[in-house]
Amino acid sequence: MSELLRVENITKKFGNLVANEDVSFSLEENSIVSLIGPNGAGKTTLFNSIAGYYPPTSGKVYFRGQDITGKPAYEICRMGITRTFQVVKTLKEMTVEENIMTGAFLHTASRKQAQAAAGEIMELTGLTEKKNILGGSLTIIDKKRVEIARALATKPQLLMLDECMAGLNQTEIKDVMNLCLDLRKSGLTLLIVEHIMEAIMPISDRIVVLNAGKKIAEGLPKDIVNNEEVIKAYLGDRYNAESN
Ligand SMILES: Nc1ncnc2c1ncn2[C@@H]1O[C@H](COP(=O)(O)OP(=O)(O)O)[C@@H](O)[C@H]1O
Ligand SMILES: [Mg+2]
Repeated sequence: MSELLRVENITKKFGNLVANEDVSFSLEENSIVSLIGPNGAGKTTLFNSIAGYYPPTSGKVYFRGQDITGKPAYEICRMGITRTFQVVKTLKEMTVEENIMTGAFLHTASRKQAQAAAGEIMELTGLTEKKNILGGSLTIIDKKRVEIARALATKPQLLMLDECMAGLNQTEIKDVMNLCLDLRKSGLTLLIVEHIMEAIMPISDRIVVLNAGKKIAEGLPKDIVNNEEVIKAYLGDRYNAESN
């Protein structure tokens, strides 16, 4: 396996607030890596720096060995990195099919080709029967499916999912887990931000833990769940919160 993405010493400041501090990690091609940590740890900020929504204050991002730091989002997306948003951005006035086609238009100006690409992705994501439904009338799980489908339509090599399982029931979570595994099988690399440990532990090859902007641990899921610092900063609180 070869390295697909490398984040090197990323720091991102918003005024005096340090949202990411000296964060480094890398992703092997064709793996699933999850980024976890408490709210405000800097996970979404890291996604934004990687995907080119804004440049990091310092540090570098390499994709297939190429320095992509500070490149604009559309260029990074064209190179093969796509992310979904924590707050779903389904286009309400468009059908499911049209929503997905907006992703496909990154690589083609042809409506017919975009429609064909959307068709394949709707099959994969279980949306075919809903292709003519308007985005605004979808249930939450289908909105999330559309969000992932639209990201897939841009033909990414790296797909970054930001809390796409929040608000889903057990069966729906299982569906998304299986979709992630299918995508890895088809050759994709995934970077996932998620709070639902039961969902990410079984599917992740590695876990990276952020706390207060800094990376505090990285490793195999089975080692992360037993890591004292991670339990103290995140897992312990989480489970306590859940049992309240
Ligand atoms: N655009 C922004 N401007 C100012 N502060 C921000 C901005 N984005 C995030 N932050 C702050 O950065 C910190 C990390 O936020 P975020 O990356 O969203 O955390 P997470 O996704 O881990 O919950 C938080 O304190 C948040 O308030
Ligand atoms: Mg976030």
